[in-house]
Amino acid sequence: MKTDTPQTVYLKDYTPPAYLIDHVELDFDIRADGTTVTSTLAMRRNPVATPATLVLDGEELHTLSVAVDGKPATYTETPTSLSLNDLPAAFTLQTVVRIQPDHNTRLSGLYRSTDGYFTQCEAQGFRRITWFIDRPDVMSRYTVTLHADQATYPVLLANGNPVAAGAEADGRHWATWEDPFKKPAYLFAVVAGKLDVLRDSFRTASGREVQLAIYVEPDKLDQCPHAMDALKKSMKWDEERFGLECDLDHYMIVAVGDFNMGAMENKGLNIFNTKYVLARSDVATDVDFENIDRVVAHEYFHNWTGNRVTCRDWFQLSLKEGLTVFRDQEFGADLHNRQTARIREVRGLRAAQFPEDAGPMAHPIRPASFVEINNFYTATVYEKGAEVIRMIQTLIGRDGFRAGMDEYFRRHDGQAVTCEDFVAAMAAASGFDFAQFMRWYNQPGTPHVAASGSFDAAAGRYTLRFTQSNPRASDAAPYLIPVRVALFDGEGHLLAGSEQTLQLTATEQEFHIDNLAAEPVPSLLRDFSAPVYLDFAYTPEQLTLLLAHESDPFNAWEAGQRLASTLILDAARAIAAGQSPQWPDSFAAAARRLLQTQAQRGAAFVAEALTLPGEGTLAEMMEVVDPDALHAARNALRRHLAEELEGEFSGLYAALAISEAYAPTAAQAGRRALRNVCLGYLMELDTDAARRLALQQFEKADNMTDQFAALASLANVNAELCPQREQALAAFYATWQDEALVVDKWLAVQSTSRRPDTLATVKALTAHPAFDAGNPNKIYALIRNFGANLVRFNAADGSGYAFMADRILDLHDRNPQVASRLARCFDRWKKFDDTRQDHARAALQRIRNHPDLSRDVLEVVTRSLGEAA
Ligand code: TRP
Ligand code: ZN
Repeated sequence: MKTDTPQTVYLKDYTPPAYLIDHVELDFDIRADGTTVTSTLAMRRNPVATPATLVLDGEELHTLSVAVDGKPATYTETPTSLSLNDLPAAFTLQTVVRIQPDHNTRLSGLYRSTDGYFTQCEAQGFRRITWFIDRPDVMSRYTVTLHADQATYPVLLANGNPVAAGAEADGRHWATWEDPFKKPAYLFAVVAGKLDVLRDSFRTASGREVQLAIYVEPDKLDQCPHAMDALKKSMKWDEERFGLECDLDHYMIVAVGDFNMGAMENKGLNIFNTKYVLARSDVATDVDFENIDRVVAHEYFHNWTGNRVTCRDWFQLSLKEGLTVFRDQEFGADLHNRQTARIREVRGLRAAQFPEDAGPMAHPIRPASFVEINNFYTATVYEKGAEVIRMIQTLIGRDGFRAGMDEYFRRHDGQAVTCEDFVAAMAAASGFDFAQFMRWYNQPGTPHVAASGSFDAAAGRYTLRFTQSNPRASDAAPYLIPVRVALFDGEGHLLAGSEQTLQLTATEQEFHIDNLAAEPVPSLLRDFSAPVYLDFAYTPEQLTLLLAHESDPFNAWEAGQRLASTLILDAARAIAAGQSPQWPDSFAAAARRLLQTQAQRGAAFVAEALTLPGEGTLAEMMEVVDPDALHAARNALRRHLAEELEGEFSGLYAALAISEAYAPTAAQAGRRALRNVCLGYLMELDTDAARRLALQQFEKADNMTDQFAALASLANVNAELCPQREQALAAFYATWQDEALVVDKWLAVQSTSRRPDTLATVKALTAHPAFDAGNPNKIYALIRNFGANLVRFNAADGSGYAFMADRILDLHDRNPQVASRLARCFDRWKKFDDTRQDHARAALQRIRNHPDLSRDVLEVVTRSLGEAA
């Protein structure tokens, strides 16, 4: 489809809608040759808006008729709009359109998947179903009727409550659903399919009985109980932590294998990527189980933060997403392991959001403009957005935050609001002044905070000096940055009374701490109290002390990451200069102490502490990225640890074996994680013994966590011939070829491999029956993971870039949303050397020059080329 000239939309241009739609009646006549949608809208002029032409949104609709108050109407139609004039103050608008869900490859609107028809309407998919004012501040009540063939599509679902159903001629049937809550169109959903269902129920605190149902493709019911459990736990948690009850009689989750994103919070009818529903211990890893908990919770939590109170416009996306991610993070921390949850959140933020905020797509958590809103479902809006909410809680305390949430719902239930409205409720409930804090919503870039300490022995006074800057936006005004600190003495004891939260508000600022006997070791930004880069000239001895003694697990971990980062970056410089890296004995000694104290500190924590910072995160710290030297340096440090600690790793590997039956509990998951970290290090030794150990684990494992960890370590083996590697990869595919989500793992493990022939492997896999160029999960597993493989994607000869450009051009028209996500793999191209930059620029220009490039990809590529869209 040819796209219009892309238009930029600006937040500052917001005006209320000229018309409102109070009630929507939809009739879907689903047939093999297309679906007919009859829409009957009860409309009226918006009293607060200036009278104007009624302009309805539409996309790929074939209009059959348009009537106002029952009479054929005069209208003007373009490919994306339908305009009517001379309308009364209140009227009924009826349109009839034909759509082609079987040919809808974008997976936006109504589309076909293996087991039936599904919808995805956020952000602007509803206009692909019928003519509508498709914006979130138009909220309506919906009554929906579906008609389809009974045998092929026995399950007919829509938002709300089932009110009537019956059979009709030619073996067809129908069902009518009514949603008692008004909602924006992006929360609309229908499903017509052949699906199995797992049912359960939940009694809310006030005694309401909610019917729960999870619908999945046939024969997958045994992979649903974990998601059902997660749903019930989420419902309970939201009652306890936030006093929020489920408002529905029916809460349904439908899993579908073709889905652009993770899941969607449609009112009472969530639609999920199968990846976040299906789990059984032999096919899903501990991380999969935990992700399911969090995504199920996320979509459920949206029922209040997103659905009951929604966004005025799409610039406010973080209003619902940042807040809901914060809520699912807190749920995950309570359910699993708070220490390592925080560590993983920050690891993820640094891997994805920090680079985004330093690259061509940098934007504030509330963007000021966009071309295609789908490009702004980003790590910034979601994960940095959650950090901003967390800072609010840090500033006003848990109780203040809870009071602010209560106030937010008291003021805005049933409304479409802005980020200011949320922060104003927090301010009203706590009395805290958030005026300066609002800059977090409006300025892009990761702030840098440089700290230094000085000690006046005579006065017993320690002075901490902070300077904040924003390299991304030199004109940025200073942020309000909460910095949690504590001081330690030279033996690693926390100084009583030294824990506090400092509030940075100026570009330069000093704080004094008095009555100290000796110069302390400061621990700054505990629990990662703000999403910033924090520089402090720590000595290795100070970091070693904090790693061993800091009681805040995040900052203990952080001390280890700082030690490792410095060593790896120094080693990368040495390797680039043709020298061999040097490792101080102290690092392996610190790692040994960690291993020895794993029982006290927790296996899960030690596993995180022994995982070196990722290449992408380290690359951000280099002036010019040398991916080969960085890769070699990081692996060399891993090998050094393996050589120094072989005995400890083998001993712990044996000691951590689990004899009881598998359960995805925090305790078991922590043990498995550390045991697999040990295996990973042993594999660095490149010995046949280690490979046999890995193959043995692969073959004997009774769960996917251990089986996959073994496979992943074997997949990295670089030897010409590694029989164990080939054997494991072949066996894995043979065993799991009918489990789509496990096949995704098989693809991912090959595209993320360190091996130099990875691109050739990935290319070959695009022709393998396991790959499906129309399925987002397969594309993410094979292609996007390759784009995140720093050393292979950024090959000096440009082969990785050329391959990615080919895949983007192959996909941009069929599925612009997914193609655009692939285009983001180029974000950091300007951080590399001139030769690589030339190759990347050529690849980007080749994409940009393609005729009729989708708006989604065009926006990303023009921004990447610096031709600001
Ligand atoms: N609102 C969804 C969530 O965060 C995100 C989502 C699901 C989405 N599918 C989408 C966003 C398609 C854009 C397009 O839970
Ligand atoms: Zn969300």
